Amino acid sequence: MASTRGYPILSEAFFADPYPLLRQLREECPVYYHAPIGAWFLARHDHCEAAVRDRRLVNARARELLSTLMPALRGTAELEAMIGQWSRLLWFLDPPQHTRSRGLVMRGFSAAAIERVRGEVRATVQQALAQVEAGGEIDVVWQFADAVALEVLCAIFGLPGEQRGDFRRWTTDIMQVAGAGATDEDPALRAKEASARLFGLLAAVVQERRAHPGEDMISRFLGDDRDDPAVLEQVTVQCFQMVGAGYLTSRNQIACAVLALLQHPDELARLRAEPQLLGPAIEELLRFAPSVLTTNRLAAEDLEIGGQTIRKGELVFPILAAANRDPAAFAEPDRLDLARRGRPMTFSVGPHYCPGGPLARLELEESLMALLRFSRWELIGEFDYRGASLQDRGPSQLRVRLDA
Ligand code: HEM
Repeated sequence: MASTRGYPILSEAFFADPYPLLRQLREECPVYYHAPIGAWFLARHDHCEAAVRDRRLVNARARELLSTLMPALRGTAELEAMIGQWSRLLWFLDPPQHTRSRGLVMRGFSAAAIERVRGEVRATVQQALAQVEAGGEIDVVWQFADAVALEVLCAIFGLPGEQRGDFRRWTTDIMQVAGAGATDEDPALRAKEASARLFGLLAAVVQERRAHPGEDMISRFLGDDRDDPAVLEQVTVQCFQMVGAGYLTSRNQIACAVLALLQHPDELARLRAEPQLLGPAIEELLRFAPSVLTTNRLAAEDLEIGGQTIRKGELVFPILAAANRDPAAFAEPDRLDLARRGRPMTFSVGPHYCPGGPLARLELEESLMALLRFSRWELIGEFDYRGASLQDRGPSQLRVRLDA
């Protein structure tokens, strides 16, 4: 029997601090059916890990997910158009198509290939900080993390910089809906419009790169197959996927990591004293304060998780942020311990684990190294989590004074 008790998973209070509710869920109802969006939520580490590896839980779910998240557009031509586009994205594919498309993306996103863009990431971070004087103030979200996440994507994909405002707006509109952050008609229509425009722009850039290949990711994705129309189409689709998945996630992750350090001054001091902790510290910050709270799958057949029967056709959301705080997987999970060794679930595991992990880690590493050159960080002013969703949670602003 599904629980009849309501846990307010999409409430403002939840996004402000999800961890008390996630703990309650894990202890009281770890496999929870959330009636308002009609989906199951998994709060235990073992259930989440098994679910993302389970072949009975599939990724071919664009129709079910978009119809659930955009109820206002059900039955409309707009929704059908969006389902048509989204069904081809990496995150919505199962083998064998998934394996093929993932191979294409990995041409540019292997750990070794990402290490080669370190110089571009470092330059972007320096540029974002150039405006800050010692003793000056910065909004870490809008004057730093946003610039780093967006400029890095524009730089490595070779996207037209003058359209960064459009990329920001379009991906924000798309992810607001994709992460269950808004279900009304207006956001749904904006997301549909944004989706069409981003596709159009990327198709034009891919054509341009076909004619004039360079050193960027799009040229790498095209490889030697640039004259194959099917490859051109695939590259456009997967660029849409990468740009959509790589901007808000990274922006919020940098902001969440800085905020967690500000809220744990002893750990921040420890990192300053022991810079060799940076590697494990990044993994711990990803565990403790992830920007992505959940992923999701669709049941392709009836199955059982933790004594609950999930019916064929139902959506399942493994809550990766809850898995990260499961005491069965991490001792004292609510304690930030920068020297902790362990593998967070933040990028998921299994065949769909995030291919952007090496880039996101690199951005975090370069960002923290640059910010740590300031000897004192002081949080000033208020912040909240307006605009957060299950896919993208981060403070809406974060004013910090940086002293030399
Ligand atoms: C800290 C930042 C990021 C976090 C926390 C994050 C997290 C995730 C998670 C949880 C998934 C779902 C995995 C699953 O369903 O099993 C995912 C998938 C994905 N991410 Fe990320 N991500 C981040 C940054 C990026 C970046 C920078 C890119 C690319 C530029 C990216 C590209 C993707 C793609 C393409 C997928 C779909 C993979 C597939 O289905 O095979 N992500 N990410």
